[in-house]
Amino acid sequence: SAEDGYRLWLRYNTIDNPALLQQYRQQITSINCPVDDGKLVAANQELQTGLSGLLGKKVPAQPAIINGAVLLGLPERSPVIRKLVADSALAHLGDEGFIIRTVMYEGKNITLITANKEAGILYGVFHFLRLMQTQQPIRQLSITSAPKIKIRLLNHWDNLNRTVERGYAGSSIWDWQRLPGYIDQRYIDYARANASIGINGTVLTNVNANAIILTDEWLQKIAALANAFRPYNIKVYLTARFSAPVEIGKLKTADPLNEEVRKWWKDKTDEIYKYIPDFGGFLVKANSEGQPGPQNYNRTHADGANMLADAVAPHGGIIMWRAFVYSNETPEDRFKQAYNDFKPLDGQFRKNVLVQVKNGPIDFQPREPFHPLFGAMPQTPLMMEYQLTQEYLGFATHLVYMAPLFKEVLDADTHAKNNSTVAQIVDGTTDGHTLSGMAGVSNIGSDINWTGHPFGQANWYTLGRLAWDNTLTSAQIANEWLRQTFTNKSAFVDTVQKLMLASREIMVNYMTPLGLHHIMGYGHHYGPAPWYNKAPRADWNPVYFHKADSIGIGFNRTATGSNALAQYQPAVRQQFEELATCPEAFLLWFHHVPWDYKMHSGKTLWETLCDKYYSGVDSVRWIQRSWNGMKNYIDAERFSEVKQLLAIQEQEAVWWRNACLLYFQTFSNKPIPARYEKPD
Ligand code: GCU
Repeated sequence: SAEDGYRLWLRYNTIDNPALLQQYRQQITSINCPVDDGKLVAANQELQTGLSGLLGKKVPAQPAIINGAVLLGLPERSPVIRKLVADSALAHLGDEGFIIRTVMYEGKNITLITANKEAGILYGVFHFLRLMQTQQPIRQLSITSAPKIKIRLLNHWDNLNRTVERGYAGSSIWDWQRLPGYIDQRYIDYARANASIGINGTVLTNVNANAIILTDEWLQKIAALANAFRPYNIKVYLTARFSAPVEIGKLKTADPLNEEVRKWWKDKTDEIYKYIPDFGGFLVKANSEGQPGPQNYNRTHADGANMLADAVAPHGGIIMWRAFVYSNETPEDRFKQAYNDFKPLDGQFRKNVLVQVKNGPIDFQPREPFHPLFGAMPQTPLMMEYQLTQEYLGFATHLVYMAPLFKEVLDADTHAKNNSTVAQIVDGTTDGHTLSGMAGVSNIGSDINWTGHPFGQANWYTLGRLAWDNTLTSAQIANEWLRQTFTNKSAFVDTVQKLMLASREIMVNYMTPLGLHHIMGYGHHYGPAPWYNKAPRADWNPVYFHKADSIGIGFNRTATGSNALAQYQPAVRQQFEELATCPEAFLLWFHHVPWDYKMHSGKTLWETLCDKYYSGVDSVRWIQRSWNGMKNYIDAERFSEVKQLLAIQEQEAVWWRNACLLYFQTFSNKPIPARYEKPD
């Protein structure tokens, strides 16, 4: 039923393995939780709902500690916990980490979930429930866990009229018209889902911001959402339109060094904190794609960010200032512009500012090299921005599991220092930052199943899990998501995990193999349009990015071209710069390569391009066959949804392949290899 999609990975169906069920029932008989705080209420409720579902019977609250108790609590309020857990065990867990342990207490077997703060207990409860949902052994637990990253956010690109920029799952879930009076159950379930994967904040509004959100009437609505989310340790953040002082404040200027402007933001911020005492702060897109910003007043991004940082600092707020900037007027390679603007500002930002950087230098392509700013601004915490909504990845129609994309970037070595993978830069270990962040541009909408494609849920899930623990592998995350979202049956999990793990490379192959990028349809970014050259600005045209001509194809970013490669550390630059060492996956990102160029395989570039496009289509058919075998393992509705979407994906993979190869063939003047001439 539709409910199968709605429940996400929080299904709590009764354990379908009788032996395990019996064992779980033996171990868990009651819940002992001193309910005296909002977050403990939520944790307690979730534990009750979860355990009752999983065990197929009500698990009662029990004020005495009996055999089989699950004991939730803070050491400071529980002498029992103080006796069982040494202070030193909690010392490094911060405000959000937790401990789960099975222990003997006065001859009774109990499971203990504790933490320094209520939020940690909430996360511990969700972890414990996940162990059971994925049918793991729980008899002897000794788990400590704390998040690697401090600010773990969704970014909603939601407008005030409930459209969603680049949203493909219905309209915005924020029902502004009925707020603040009406709290949709969806808000609570949204908060539960986020808390279950460790997400601790949400930016409610589009980066292409509307100043109106900062007015009194709207702040009341925001406060209502904040109240709904608070028990789940989720803070709300807003996007700030830089020109708001002019638009809603009636000032003449928004110059960040103007005293009146600074006072306006300070007063506005104080007002926001009156409504929302734990407001998180602002996310700002400035001087990018037509948005106003400090450069309109000949000020720098640091001037702009610091003005807002000063306004939120007394309240403990933060500013996430986006590095996604490129200007129409600059003839410079778009790849280079963010680095050129931001690198010189390193060291100039206030302590409560993070610079939010997209994973790659252009814009959320199926594959990008890591953004050259990572490793280049050691004095500034850089926040990772991923895009969960599949703007360039087939919207909510194509199945693509993005963990391998996210991990590829995190695992990349920036060579800025020792221990400076992108993961280590972002989580703050390389440069000793305590402030760290990761955000995913949300793929959530009003669709019953939240994300449109049932597998879109996996990307939301991944963002949370990776922000908590960037050492998790793509396979681990897929595995636990599948078990919770569909079934624990290994025939299903093994098969579908395989196709998920392959799905991103398959998409790269039929869309943008060998380092091609941004050749999607103009504006909407759906489907192929490598031929398009009529955009109002050059760097929105696919032809700008692939540069195919009679000699070859690809963007020369070496020293003989745009020299964007100079923005990387020498070790990275050299690897990409030499044709011999440049990984084939990134070849056309950095080189204009002749059609006859011999690849490592001995085949020519043209032949290899054909191979990639053809294999991409073939692999989508392999996914279809694998999925068809899954019919008996899951509910009919989701089985059929995915099957239908895969059929569209197959047609469109063929569309991508044929359109791109036929178009590029007009430059290469070479035949499609004979082995591919059979009709599909
Ligand atoms: C992309 C996207 C825009 C979005 C922008 C951003 O360019 O197409 O819709 O506003 O990214 O991240 O700011």
